[in-house]
Amino acid sequence: MYLYLAAGLCAILVSATWRIISNVFLSPLASIPGPFLAKITSKWLILVEMSGNRTTTIHKLHNQYGPTVRVGPNEVSFADGNVIKELYGQSSDFMKAPVYDQFSQHPVGIFSMQNKAEHRERRKLLSHAFAQSNLLQIEPVIGDTVKQLLKKINGTMGQPTDALVLLRMFALDVVGNDTGELFLGKSFSALESIKPPTFIRDLDAYFIVMGMKGSFPWLFEIASYFPSTKWQELQQAPKRLRTYGENALRDYRLRQDAGPKGAKYKDLLHKMLTSHETVSTPSGKPTEVPMTDEQISLEIGNLVFAGTDTTSTTLTYLFWQLAQCKWQELLRDELAITQLVDGIATFGDIDQFPILNAVIAESLRLFPAAPASLQRETPAGGRELAGYFIPAGTVVSMQCYTTQRDGAIFHDPETFDPTRWMQSPEKLTDMNLYQMPFSKGTRACLGKNLAMMELKLVVAAVIKQYQIKVADSMKPGDMNMKDHFLTLPACGRCDLVFTPL
Ligand code: HEM
Repeated sequence: MYLYLAAGLCAILVSATWRIISNVFLSPLASIPGPFLAKITSKWLILVEMSGNRTTTIHKLHNQYGPTVRVGPNEVSFADGNVIKELYGQSSDFMKAPVYDQFSQHPVGIFSMQNKAEHRERRKLLSHAFAQSNLLQIEPVIGDTVKQLLKKINGTMGQPTDALVLLRMFALDVVGNDTGELFLGKSFSALESIKPPTFIRDLDAYFIVMGMKGSFPWLFEIASYFPSTKWQELQQAPKRLRTYGENALRDYRLRQDAGPKGAKYKDLLHKMLTSHETVSTPSGKPTEVPMTDEQISLEIGNLVFAGTDTTSTTLTYLFWQLAQCKWQELLRDELAITQLVDGIATFGDIDQFPILNAVIAESLRLFPAAPASLQRETPAGGRELAGYFIPAGTVVSMQCYTTQRDGAIFHDPETFDPTRWMQSPEKLTDMNLYQMPFSKGTRACLGKNLAMMELKLVVAAVIKQYQIKVADSMKPGDMNMKDHFLTLPACGRCDLVFTPL
């Protein structure tokens, strides 16, 4: 008996030792620098990720080891601008890594699709709604939501308020509006409610729950029996997001049924319901099929998800930053000639304002809402990247948090300095390459135009009508960036004071 036990232990020891030796010394990635622990296990990074520190930890590793770092037995992070095109360029054949599967509920939507042809079809279908020409038509919808936001800010009567919550409700109301012109989600009317809707809390919980489920499925299974009401509620977040999409689709159908016969609908949901996607059948023959209800409702949820915290976090950090520097006044001077109607500027009037563009670009550089590694899988045959041969199947990534803080490209990188974006176009070439808060290429953010319109309309309206200060309740370090793929301030809020001018 003892002999068998000893033999078993020996076998485990030998296998673990062999795994360590092969990962550290024999792996094709052996010559890539990185911490010892990263070479032998990927679990360390998962734990760091769960604490919200993956991005800043990898950033420190780049500062220590250089532009190419092995961050796991099968994972390499790059910070070299020459690699950007290869990983994220228009013709890149690096597909999204399997981790995206964990992020998403099934059937996966545009954000997580790994198959190139499937993704192209879905993107084609959704793109129209995000085109600049379409957005200009829905500018009044966004304008109305900005008005609601201003009403809410007015209600704070110059007292400290959590701007993060306000702006999350704003962004949620834009993408979840029910006026029929955007996505046609179910209206949250979040800005009208006193308490933020559950959806907001579910957004926070989503990546934590999905991450844990994907990385430690057995632990998640055990934890799912943990008799805490709070935990039980938290782990239902992905299910609630799914139900949101289902309800939105059902309500949309009911509204259409009740509407005038033969009415022409131009919204995205109508397009999803009436279009066909070309898919490959098992025999390899392309066939046109409509999207299923399940695909549509999940895609609605995904879009609302993708468009909420990204925009609100960007606005929050921008206001927090403006509250502490001269750029608030400079921007107000630039906006002096802008006419407001009901407190709102016209997008066309402000779109090209240099200071407005520069403060937004600089805020996106220092406080990107999606700062984390965008992981991709090395295609068949492997590739040469930054002087290393990377075998097929290796997970490779870059994170904009690091590229946008490269001291060789951005002088004094930790300083908020919008003037760097106000130089001649030739001087911007390298900065534009390393600046990638919306990613690049075929998988770049689909909602970038919408986000930029929201950012500009909100910033112009608020700065022109309010003086912003950081509330005394905010302590040093409170706004340090944590992230579970998307950024959140360390203290989970951002108290600002908006005083009417
Ligand atoms: C400041 C605001 C925003 C930022 C910083 C941002 C950032 C990003 C980034 C970095 C990606 C690439 C993710 C990856 O490769 O894993 C992405 C993808 C995406 N974003 Fe955004 N986003 C913002 C706003 C929005 C909005 C408002 C929407 C729409 C409602 C949206 C919809 C999407 C979609 C659908 C994708 C997936 C595109 C694809 O794979 O083809 N985003 N976003």
